[in-house]
Amino acid sequence: MGSNRSWFIIWVIFYLSLSSCGHASNSSNPDALDAFIHDFAQKSLEKRPTGTLYKVPLPANFSGMDVSVVRLRSASFWKSGANFSSFGIPPSVLPMPYARRLAIVYQNLGNWSSYYYKVPGHTLVAPVVGFMAYDAPDLSALGNTMLLLSIQGEPISVRFSQIAVAEYANVTMKCVEFSAGGSVKLSNMTTPNVCIARGQGHFSIVIPTPPPPNKVSLWKWWVVGFGAGFVGLVLVGLFGIVIFKLVKRKKIKDMEKETEKSVAFDSIWIGLSRMPSATASRTQPDLENEYAP
Ligand SMILES: *[C@@H]1O[C@H](CO)[C@@H](O)[C@H](O)[C@H]1NC(C)=O
Ligand SMILES: *[C@@H]1O[C@H](CO)[C@@H](O)[C@H](O)[C@H]1NC(C)=O
Ligand SMILES: *[C@@H]1O[C@H](CO)[C@@H](O)[C@H](O)[C@H]1NC(C)=O
Ligand SMILES: *[C@@H]1O[C@H](CO)[C@@H](O)[C@H](O)[C@H]1NC(C)=O
Ligand SMILES: *[C@@H]1O[C@H](CO)[C@@H](O)[C@H](O)[C@H]1NC(C)=O
Ligand SMILES: *[C@@H]1O[C@H](CO)[C@@H](O)[C@H](O)[C@H]1NC(C)=O
Repeated sequence: MGSNRSWFIIWVIFYLSLSSCGHASNSSNPDALDAFIHDFAQKSLEKRPTGTLYKVPLPANFSGMDVSVVRLRSASFWKSGANFSSFGIPPSVLPMPYARRLAIVYQNLGNWSSYYYKVPGHTLVAPVVGFMAYDAPDLSALGNTMLLLSIQGEPISVRFSQIAVAEYANVTMKCVEFSAGGSVKLSNMTTPNVCIARGQGHFSIVIPTPPPPNKVSLWKWWVVGFGAGFVGLVLVGLFGIVIFKLVKRKKIKDMEKETEKSVAFDSIWIGLSRMPSATASRTQPDLENEYAP
């Protein structure tokens, strides 16, 4: 019993340490990435003409990500909107607080998307794209003030070109919006490959994750393994008990045999001598034995 309980405790500790290992994966913080990209874009924004989109050269270890920046005069942004990268920002969008010029930083996280962004129970089927607007106080700088876009009329459209719709034709794709602070909002996709945005943030497309066969079978194996282990333990325990009982029974039998022998001897002895007292008859051979050489 005691050993079974300690096995159980060992099992619990093992299981807990395993599951804590699983949760300890310190995933990448997307807000830190945004800050990093902002700083990088800020450094690279010098001497660039207003109104044209250009790529921000990222360090080599960010390979696979795509970041670009455009600087705009607020007047022209209001009049014509901004149609760059994956985002169609319609006219009549007001950046708040007011800035004479603004800079929009566009991100496409490419193969880094699922590294930074996850939707529980869903799989990303398009890269995560995002945009943020900042003030642009003078010709050569990207400011530090983030601007909020106040959208009254038509929303911003987010175009995704890198999904194969046919591949997912009979699953429902959903638009997902990641807002600051890690909140995730799912919505129906009304136009193929297009999502709707009402402000800056990060966007992608997800499908419900099919039950992962590998994980399930792994779990099954774990369960089977522990089950077999447990059964084995019980069997070992039963075997031990049986052995113990057999040994005990043999001992008892031997003792019984001994007593039978002595009883038989006694009765024979008694029969021969016809002594009336049993105590006397039993002590006598002992005494004799003691004096035997
Ligand atoms: C995870 O954390 C460990 C230390 O706790 C660190 O060495 C490692 O670089 C981190 N990984 C990521 C992807 O942030
Ligand atoms: C690239 O390296 C820098 C430090 O050199 C680090 O701060 C950054 O997180 C790395 N990028 C990625 C995507 O891990
Ligand atoms: C993305 O792809 C690039 C190469 O194109 C690679 O260097 C990078 O490690 C990949 N990132 C991830 C998270 O796999
Ligand atoms: C925005 O640009 C895309 C191509 O990048 C184009 O297909 C679309 O028609 C443009 N929209 C407007 C309103 O100009
Ligand atoms: C889509 O439907 C076809 C036919 O009904 C089926 O064979 C296929 O497995 C389905 N694909 C998905 C991803 O559900
Ligand atoms: C999303 O689509 C589902 C079915 O396709 C529908 O039942 C649901 O009402 C839709 N949600 C919204 C917010 O339109």
